[in-house]
Amino acid sequence: MATAEALKNGLISDDILSYYDVKTRGGYLALAIVEHSYVHFPGKASDRQISTASDDMIPGLRKLAATFHKNQVKAAMQLNHAGSAAPGQCVGPSPLPHPLRQTVPAQLSQDQIKEIVSAFQHAALRVKTAGFDAVEIHAAHGYLLN
Ligand SMILES: Cc1cc2nc3c(=O)[nH]c(=O)nc-3n(C[C@H](O)[C@H](O)[C@H](O)COP(=O)(O)O)c2cc1C
Repeated sequence: MATAEALKNGLISDDILSYYDVKTRGGYLALAIVEHSYVHFPGKASDRQISTASDDMIPGLRKLAATFHKNQVKAAMQLNHAGSAAPGQCVGPSPLPHPLRQTVPAQLSQDQIKEIVSAFQHAALRVKTAGFDAVEIHAAHGYLLN
């Protein structure tokens, strides 16, 4: 569940490190899946969401992966693009209102779709570079892939 405790620019904060440290201490868990992160700035869902959208996030993500491993827990990071649930000018596969928010997304072009696919790939590589064991693609809750 999203703590929404990242720094304003999506960097991992001390509060996030401490939250996941407390949750995973004691050797009771095999795997922890971290809350959703945005892979591309236009797909940011909410304020203080974790970012995996740029390389300068890697040092913070590395500290987070190390926190889980210190507690002998495997770690996965959720990757997400909020699509028509993003605040501001949002995007979607077609200009149909989001069922809950009623926001109408701009229709993505094929090039923009390719850019988002690439953003997921790059985010996954950043997470891997930071030492995580896996990623989980978020495809629920009215976000883009849902
Ligand atoms: C504040 C809040 C933040 C959430 N953040 C995430 C998230 O980051 N990733 C995710 O997959 N689901 C997220 N969810 C959805 C919950 O994880 C989901 O509703 C839960 O799995 C349902 O479990 P339950 O049926 O036991 O309540 C969030 C829900 C709430 C209320």
